[in-house]
Amino acid sequence: MKITRRLIASQLMAIGAALASWANQPDSVSLFAYSNSDGHGGLKLAWSANGKSWHPLLDSRSIVNSDFGPWGSMKTMFSPVLRQQADGSGWVCTWQVADGDSATAFASSADLKKWSPQIYTSGPSTSPANSLSLRKAFPAEILLGGKTRKGYVSKVAYSTIADLLDHTDAIRHRESLNSQLMKDDHLRFASLKPVEATLSVSDDSAKAISPNLIGIFFEDINYSADGGLYAELVQNRDFEYSPSDRHNWHPAYGWTATTATRDTTDLTIATSDPLHPNNPHYVQATDIMLSNGGYDGITLKAGDSYRLSLSARGKATITASLVDADGKVLASRSLKVSSGAWKKYACTLKAAESASGASLRLDVKGTCDLDMVSLFPADTFRGRENGLRKDLATVLADLKPKFVRFPGGCVAHGDGVDNIYDWKGSVGPLESRRPLRNLWGYHQTRGLGYHEYFQFCEDIGATPLPVLAAGVPCQNSGRPAHHSHDAVTSYGQQCGIPMEEMDEYVQDILDLVEYANGDARTSKWGRERAKAGHPAPFNLKYIGIGNEDMITEVFEERFAIIADAVKKAYPDIRIVGTVGPFYEGTDYDRGWEFATEQGIPVVDEHYYVSPGWLIHNNDYYDNYDRSKPHVYLGEYASHMPDRASNLEAALSNAIYLTGVERNGDVVELSSYAPLLAKKNRTQWRPDLIYFDNDSVTLTPDYYVQQMYGSHGGDMWIPNDLKVDSKDAEVKCRVGASVVRDSSSGATIVRLANLLPVETTVKLSIPRIAEAVTARKICLSGNPADTAIVPVESTETIVDGCSVALPPYSFTNYVID
Ligand code: AHR
Repeated sequence: MKITRRLIASQLMAIGAALASWANQPDSVSLFAYSNSDGHGGLKLAWSANGKSWHPLLDSRSIVNSDFGPWGSMKTMFSPVLRQQADGSGWVCTWQVADGDSATAFASSADLKKWSPQIYTSGPSTSPANSLSLRKAFPAEILLGGKTRKGYVSKVAYSTIADLLDHTDAIRHRESLNSQLMKDDHLRFASLKPVEATLSVSDDSAKAISPNLIGIFFEDINYSADGGLYAELVQNRDFEYSPSDRHNWHPAYGWTATTATRDTTDLTIATSDPLHPNNPHYVQATDIMLSNGGYDGITLKAGDSYRLSLSARGKATITASLVDADGKVLASRSLKVSSGAWKKYACTLKAAESASGASLRLDVKGTCDLDMVSLFPADTFRGRENGLRKDLATVLADLKPKFVRFPGGCVAHGDGVDNIYDWKGSVGPLESRRPLRNLWGYHQTRGLGYHEYFQFCEDIGATPLPVLAAGVPCQNSGRPAHHSHDAVTSYGQQCGIPMEEMDEYVQDILDLVEYANGDARTSKWGRERAKAGHPAPFNLKYIGIGNEDMITEVFEERFAIIADAVKKAYPDIRIVGTVGPFYEGTDYDRGWEFATEQGIPVVDEHYYVSPGWLIHNNDYYDNYDRSKPHVYLGEYASHMPDRASNLEAALSNAIYLTGVERNGDVVELSSYAPLLAKKNRTQWRPDLIYFDNDSVTLTPDYYVQQMYGSHGGDMWIPNDLKVDSKDAEVKCRVGASVVRDSSSGATIVRLANLLPVETTVKLSIPRIAEAVTARKICLSGNPADTAIVPVESTETIVDGCSVALPPYSFTNYVID
């Protein structure tokens, strides 16, 4: 009672103080809205009480950015006009999406903080702003921070400015937490002594959590597939590279040719009567030596066998050799081509020595056409032909992922409508697959296609989670869509798949479910799967629709059509929707609203954030509404300022995942992203695993994922961690999670210590009344370490014992 009165009194005093300070403020002031003259940087605001001296708002940050078009040259905003609704109920901003372009953008906001999805129209006359009653804004030129700015000015109540000033404070505070780094811990925790904590674990009211929480996200980025996981050693085996993949690429790219008289000569590329219409280019070879150095050289292991295959027609003898970087022949076999029609020829080459940077040489004597020249190690993952690189697939399997998401990421929804990943073009005989430009700047053979993805999932006991475009390509698309030359519809996802083509697109998605699950004899696509060597179904349970798309009318219309059709045809399939690329903002808000309206069971959240964000947002899911869709945290990673893959990043993910696991009743799936990156071919950092042709490098984050993945639980055991400190910065750096795997009965206690000092945790676990030997897995080191591995040992655990957590560590106790 006393407390309540005191609270009310203090609140009244605070209101009084606020009113007193407001009493000195004008009723109305001027608000100036502008954008930078180059159009980049979004809408900015300044205010003035006297119309002469101007003060920036939000420290000159933007309050809304243009989402229109590709990154780089676009996302621009010219001549923005910000106006308040006549009844004071909200705001409207209109702008031109490009300088001198007639296309107009429209967005509205109730409070200048949260903004509606943007609408783009062909010119000012068609803007939705025309149907609203708006207060006036006048063109003006002001001096701000020594620079003249052109924009629009309007009169607003001072309360609007006061609110934005508070908002600025909140942003500053948030940013100061988010930017915290361990390199400053010697100052932040200068006088910190070892810390004590108690973890009280009680089995009462244990709750069921998702048994599929930890999975992997596979996308062909950073040469993850072609040149990476896909074991093909020949680059451009199908002679289908083209300038649309990369401006200086062409059908002969990756190949060199010599003749008896010339050191280098051009390859003759032809297209008439090809091996398959989807694969139109091939080589015409007469007395020529062709050479292919693979993806940055071919790596060979002494004594290993390599399967060579090629399609040819004509009359020739082809001597196929594996040759090291000095020209030494390490294996050689001859093939006799004698056929007027295309025919497949194959042989096995055994490498006499190990080599890096080797190449495949084809010495053609006679005349023949050649296509689909392929070289695979015989020793692929699970020995599959057209298989996966064994070392890479093995480290993926060792993560024990419960699901695999594929084929992306942005690769799934594509750069423009024509680049949407069409799954049908990625199955069937290799020569019939449709190669596809990779929006990460290279070429997808799609030899690793949907069938192989499904097969890999089965091989490692993971659930397949294919993600298909929601009828819209990436909102950052740089390529014009087909059928359009209009600025509004030719960039970005605003075009979408034309509505008259949506039936066909929806059918493709339904056919995918049939390919995965349909009967091998009675269904058309089930038969195709059987023809590809897999009569048994692949047991597809999830389908993702959309990838962090902008949630616009174009998106919503198409998504709803697809989702309705899938629900109707396959009510048991769990649809995964999408809510934009950030943990907040317009797409996140509208995405959630829309998915909830649509009754979508799971939505895919993405966020790449700083370690400080992860440390300070451990409670992110604690208050998620359990009646709404579940969450698939489909892409996340801790981004250091230099994007290093170090222990600091990994520990911030580890402590964040304690919160995810605690909320495993609402977070159903999660996957760190991206997964793989080839050294020197990396477009995006950080990644979970780096590799080159010879080796694989695992990051600290890999081990964090592995600790969660290989020792997961399906029950969350209530636990209360009390850290003996009054300092919130200390408290938020010690985290715990306790889960149980009901099939094995094992209890897993995870403890994260992100402090520069040891933390001793007393374990109060009444269930373990008698001492047991627990397996201990501990990842620790210096925050900047990139090459560390967890150390495994055993430790005796009993109710009331204390365990010591080293500084900067993540420890798992597995108690069988
Ligand atoms: O993971 C890399 C990229 O990040 C994905 O392709 C995309 O979905 C996200 O923006």
